[in-house]
Amino acid sequence: MAVTAKIAPSMLSSDFSNLASEAERMLNCGADWLHMDVMNGHFVPNLTIGAPVIESLRKHTKAYLDCHLMVTNPLDYVEPMGKAGASGFTFHVEVSKDNWQELVLRIKSKGMRPGVALKPGTPIEEVYPLLRKLRSIFEVEGENPVEMVLVLTVEPGFGGQKFMPEMMDKVRTLRKKYPSLDIEVDGGLGPSTIGAAASAGANCIVAGSSVFGAAEPANVISLTRKSVNENRKSS
Ligand code: DX5
Ligand code: ZN
Repeated sequence: MAVTAKIAPSMLSSDFSNLASEAERMLNCGADWLHMDVMNGHFVPNLTIGAPVIESLRKHTKAYLDCHLMVTNPLDYVEPMGKAGASGFTFHVEVSKDNWQELVLRIKSKGMRPGVALKPGTPIEEVYPLLRKLRSIFEVEGENPVEMVLVLTVEPGFGGQKFMPEMMDKVRTLRKKYPSLDIEVDGGLGPSTIGAAASAGANCIVAGSSVFGAAEPANVISLTRKSVNENRKSS
């Protein structure tokens, strides 16, 4: 099955005091997903949102809430995030080496889609055992396994940082190995960097400052989608 472009504005760059209308604005501009950065001040040196905010936002939108958990104890967040209405639950491989199997099963049991993220310093090989195992646990004949790998293209914690092109090797390697996997990139994506990410094989694109800082966010979103689609077609 061919992968499709998913453009996910990062709500970290939105006006948090108007989260519901910011979400609606992004969806009207063509966003597929809304990327929600959950940080608790331990895994990264920043504190953002948690389940109560997801729950409030869920009352205003049916959109896919692509939640990126930058926390040291993701297992503790599965239940509250599931209840709050999260759609995707992406945890970091660096903090889940010992319990990822339980974590994934719990995420699935709460009706969320599991994803795994890796920081710039983490080699891509670290997610292989997880992917293999995820496939053997969940793959149903004729169906694409539900999974996603998020390749961080900045050090996680803050929006507005510079894209790290050297991370594209990870994306390329992963795409070659897993042609139908959702591969998400996050950090510093915008009109000047999307070409590199899309040609490496990324299909889920998180963009915070480049979208929210644009005079016409819809143009940035459609340009991003175009770049992914063109590269997927030619691959
Ligand atoms: C960084 C977050 C990103 C961030 C991206 O820790 O995971 O989602 O919001 O922001 P930009 O697109 O501005 O780099
Ligand atoms: Zn993120």
